[in-house]
Amino acid sequence: MSIQTVIMAAGQGTRMRSSTPKVLHPILGKPMLWYSLRAAQTVSDDLPVVVVGHQAGQVRRFAEGQARFAVQEQQLGTAHAVEQARPLLEGQAETILVTSADMPLISAETLHSLAEAQQAHPGPMTMLVAESDSPRGFGRVVRDDGGFVRAIVEEADATPEELAIRLLNVGVYAFEAAWLWDALRRVPLSPKGEYYITALVELAVRDGLNVQALTLANPEESIGVNTRVHLAEAAAAMRRRINTRWMLAGVTLLDPATTYIEPEVAIGRDTIVWPNTHLRGGTTIGQECELGPNTYILDTQIGNRCKVFASVLERAIVEDDVDIGPFGHLRKGAHLARGVHMGNFGEVKNSYLGPGSKMGHFSYLGDATLGANVNVGAGTITCNYDGERKNPTRIGDNAFIGSDTMLVAPLVLGENARTGAGAVVTKDVPSNSLAVGMPARVIRKFEKP
Ligand code: UD1
Ligand code: CA
Repeated sequence: MSIQTVIMAAGQGTRMRSSTPKVLHPILGKPMLWYSLRAAQTVSDDLPVVVVGHQAGQVRRFAEGQARFAVQEQQLGTAHAVEQARPLLEGQAETILVTSADMPLISAETLHSLAEAQQAHPGPMTMLVAESDSPRGFGRVVRDDGGFVRAIVEEADATPEELAIRLLNVGVYAFEAAWLWDALRRVPLSPKGEYYITALVELAVRDGLNVQALTLANPEESIGVNTRVHLAEAAAAMRRRINTRWMLAGVTLLDPATTYIEPEVAIGRDTIVWPNTHLRGGTTIGQECELGPNTYILDTQIGNRCKVFASVLERAIVEDDVDIGPFGHLRKGAHLARGVHMGNFGEVKNSYLGPGSKMGHFSYLGDATLGANVNVGAGTITCNYDGERKNPTRIGDNAFIGSDTMLVAPLVLGENARTGAGAVVTKDVPSNSLAVGMPARVIRKFEKP
């Protein structure tokens, strides 16, 4: 049976006290809405319909291409939000799944189970419920002896007995579509002046129809985000979920509580992650690596058996058997070939270091291309910027750059070229030559070693 999904995302999110729309607040580097979109996309062949309203432009811009949009000009409540999807969805599916963009932990599996439960159920709706001792302001679910739902009472309207109910409305529902589109027209205005989706329960009961409840297997999924306190809770739960997945896949996390792995990161087996390590964006890590402690890696590809200690890597490529740090910094376009050693206080930007090259101490390489087995002495700097242009430096295989060499680009150093300590190199150095001084001059030709 066909399914269509609706994600409610029009509310203002007043309690966030933010100029950013609530659903765009990030959890592990992705806007909350990203998680709802991803889960919804797995249950339907068609793109989810996101109901936008408050700061609609920004929300749309983020979700463009991943969703269709229904605009709710005025936020008149959750039933009114779903009503806005009618022109796109009425007559398009047997089952309508409704979820909220402020519930990022609802998993694809849960949405599947909910849709399946509804499709196997003769009644008009199945709602997701959670049992919990901390009600977090959720609507309380009133049931009859048969376990069927009679009503949802919002906290503000609940009697003391109702407040004691531990069964909570998670705010995710599957509806029989034809019934939904009819019943939405009959939702009454609440005392607060809104049209609540929760009123559909009482409408079903009044129609003499059974409302089914599906209990969340993992109550953590019900963490909804209304405040920044909730945001931190949701982020912590998401982090635990992702970290658990990687540990079960064969990755050692020495301290999962201080390990931050974003959802699109991939990590190979037998890699060990030390505390306070952040793996961000589209980062991929090979097998048997050792990362951290205190390491930040963004959008970087790392091969097998690499060690990265107390370093920052951004938009870089690192091949197998490389070790970096402590206090290394790879910036955009840094590419370290197999077996490169980069010791403390090195910075590399838009540069290639050939296999086996070494840069042990206090160096900056920018816009440079190094061959294999180049030794970059302590304190070597590529002076790549002349105030107007970024200029390239090329260094041949087996070159030996003396400590504290200034390489004033553009510059080419041939294979086996050498520079003396403190050289300020302003002219190309041919292969098999040693240049010294300030500015450096070639003093000697020598035979290839
Ligand atoms: C809602 C439920 C409550 C449930 C809780 C679980 C209602 C009336 N109450 O309360 O029973 O326990 O979720 O999280 O539904 N939205 C719109 N347009 C609107 C109003 C809201 O798109 O006019 C969106 C919001 O952006 C949000 C979602 O609907 O994504 C839920 O709205 P919110 O105001 O957060 O409802 P809760 O008070 O959390
Ligand atoms: Ca909410």
